[in-house]
Amino acid sequence: MVTLQNATVVITGAASGMGRAMAVEFAEEGSNVVVVDVDEDGTDEVVSEITDDGGTAIGVFGDVSDTESVETVVETALEEYGTIDVLVNNAGILDDFAPAGDTSDDLWDAVIGVNLDGPFYLTREALPALKDGDEEGIVINTASIAGKVAGGGGAAYTASKHGLIGLTKHLSEAYGPDIRANAICPGAVKTGMTDDMEDELQEMSAVTPAERPADPEEIARVATFLAGDDSSFIHGTPVNVDGGMLVDK
Ligand SMILES: NC(=O)c1ccc[n+]([C@@H]2O[C@H](COP(=O)([O-])OP(=O)(O)OC[C@H]3O[C@@H](n4cnc5c(N)ncnc54)[C@H](O)[C@@H]3O)[C@@H](O)[C@H]2O)c1
Repeated sequence: MVTLQNATVVITGAASGMGRAMAVEFAEEGSNVVVVDVDEDGTDEVVSEITDDGGTAIGVFGDVSDTESVETVVETALEEYGTIDVLVNNAGILDDFAPAGDTSDDLWDAVIGVNLDGPFYLTREALPALKDGDEEGIVINTASIAGKVAGGGGAAYTASKHGLIGLTKHLSEAYGPDIRANAICPGAVKTGMTDDMEDELQEMSAVTPAERPADPEEIARVATFLAGDDSSFIHGTPVNVDGGMLVDK
C-alpha cells in the first residue's frame, strides 16, 4: 500500500512524452520524483517545471541499458530521499518497424537493451529498496500493445515488449505481496516517439474505437492509479490503455 504523498518515484524516460507527463502527475500528487533520462536538457526542463510549480524532483542523467548508470540512478535516489517506493520503467525506443530479416545485430541490441535489459537492470538494482519497509513496493512497466500482438512494431520492439510483460508477471509472481508489479500497454500516443509519424497515428486512429491517439496525460493518470491504493488488488496485469485498439484481437 503506497501513499503517493511523499512517496519516492523513479521514472525513466521522463524527459519526454509519457514519462514527462507521469513525472508531472506524480509531483502533483505530492511525490518526490526522480527524473531519469539520457536527454540532460530535457531532464533539467522537467525538473524545473516541477519545482517551479512547488513540487519535489531531482534529475539523474541515466542510460537504463548500462548497469553502471543504473547503479548511479538508485544510489542517487537513495542518497536524496532515503527510499524508493515506486519504479516506473518507461524509457523505450522504436525499431522503425524493421522485420526480423532486416534487423541488424546493432538494432536488435539497442532496442532490447533499452526496452527490456533496462527495466531488468533497474528493477534488480532497486529491489532491496522497493521491498524495504512495511509498504509494498510498486513497479510499473510501460509496455505496449506491441507486447500483446504483432504489428505494433518490428521484430525487436515486439519481442522487447512481449518480454517486458513477461518480466512484469514474473516480478509479481516471485515478489508479491512485497512488490506489486503491473504493465501499461498504450496504443497510439502523441509523444516525441510519434512526432514524425502523423500518417501512422491516423491509420491507427482509424481502427481504434476512440478514433484518436491518446494524450500522454491519459497514460500518466493510469500510472498514478496503478501506484496507488485504488488499484490494490491488481497484480501482474498488462493494462490496455489503447482506446480499444485491441478490442477484436
Ligand atoms: N508513443 C506511443 O505511441 C507508444 C505506444 C506504446 C508504447 N510506447 C512506449 O511508451 C514509452 C514512452 O515512450 P514515449 O512515446 O513517451 O516516447 P518519447 O520518445 O517521447 O520518450 C522516451 C524517453 O526515453 C528516453 N530514453 C531513450 N533511451 C533511453 C535510455 N537508454 N535511458 C534512459 N532514457 C532513455 C528518451 O530520451 C525520451 O526522453 C516507451 O517505452 C515506448 O515504447 C509508446
